[in-house]
Amino acid sequence: MSTIEQAAKRLEEMRRAAADANAADAGNIPSTIDASPMPEAVLRGVSSRATHARAALAGSSGLGAPARITPFAHATRPRLDIDFATLKRMFFLTPDAPQSMLADEFRIVKRPVMRNALGPAKVRNGNLVMVTSALPGEGKTYTAVNLAISVAMEYDTSVILVDGDVAHPDVPNILASPRETGLLDLLTNDRLAIDDVLVPTNVENLAILPAGAQQGRATELLASAQMQRTLNELSSRYADLVIIFDSPPLLPTTEARELATHMGQILMVVGADSTQQHAVKLALSAVEKCEIVLMILNKAAKTDIGSYGGYYRYGTPRD
Ligand SMILES: Nc1ncnc2c1ncn2[C@@H]1O[C@H](COP(=O)(O)OP(=O)(O)OP(=O)(O)O)[C@@H](O)[C@H]1O
Ligand SMILES: [Mg+2]
Repeated sequence: MSTIEQAAKRLEEMRRAAADANAADAGNIPSTIDASPMPEAVLRGVSSRATHARAALAGSSGLGAPARITPFAHATRPRLDIDFATLKRMFFLTPDAPQSMLADEFRIVKRPVMRNALGPAKVRNGNLVMVTSALPGEGKTYTAVNLAISVAMEYDTSVILVDGDVAHPDVPNILASPRETGLLDLLTNDRLAIDDVLVPTNVENLAILPAGAQQGRATELLASAQMQRTLNELSSRYADLVIIFDSPPLLPTTEARELATHMGQILMVVGADSTQQHAVKLALSAVEKCEIVLMILNKAAKTDIGSYGGYYRYGTPRD
């Protein structure tokens, strides 16, 4: 069975398990899933917001550990004050709620990502992490923003969230970040440096790189040599950082495929009830050149599935 077929099969098992768990309304591990890992993919579960809302009622919150490093000291743009209360109302992760159910889910999601990006056996360009999906609306932006915040909650790790969905940037709608001057401008204006476009935030170790001025030729720009140079600079200058790209969906756009060619890791978000298996297979085949592809089952009815699945890189199992 090919890697993609195995991934799709495992995904189907995960879905069934999520449905079973929901029907039974119990936290037990469904017996239809075995605990053995599936080669070359990781499957993680992120539950639906409604589940978080229920958990939040019972949950506690407190101040997270203070960030210790200021890698964005040279950024020249005004600091963005992310409004945590608004984020919380939208059921996003916030740094002041480290004990929430969502925080736990993203701890599980971020662990392999960080290991690939920064661990002793880090992969090539492993700190360039693209969050994508087969189709629109599966939760890429939700995942990218939450993952960025989760990584920023680490004591000694910093993160840049890049709005790589250049045609339909959505990060500004979530974080109220500026739309102007970002990635696409870096690709078209030689006089701009990364420090001119990065937006530091009130989360000391989180900065945002906006999508930038809209361009008719975004795909060509993302495929350009200048894009390669920009990413090389980002990846090497910020070798100790995790750089997370929110991105367009893979199947209906060409931008996402271009972006994928530069990435060290890809997180494939799969809408639990929405995405057909053949769409997932097609999307996986579109990114098969990337060494690491991790999969996240999003909007699952239960979070218990988050503990299932194994983690491998393409080629050689890493665990
Ligand atoms: N786990 C979740 N639980 C509940 N709602 C969610 C979850 N994940 C995403 N959503 C909601 O689903 C909608 C689509 O999510 P999001 O914008 O992240 O998808 P997307 O893949 O980035 O979409 P697009 O392809 O349009 O960029 C949003 O309203 C988002 O808040
Ligand atoms: Mg989006």
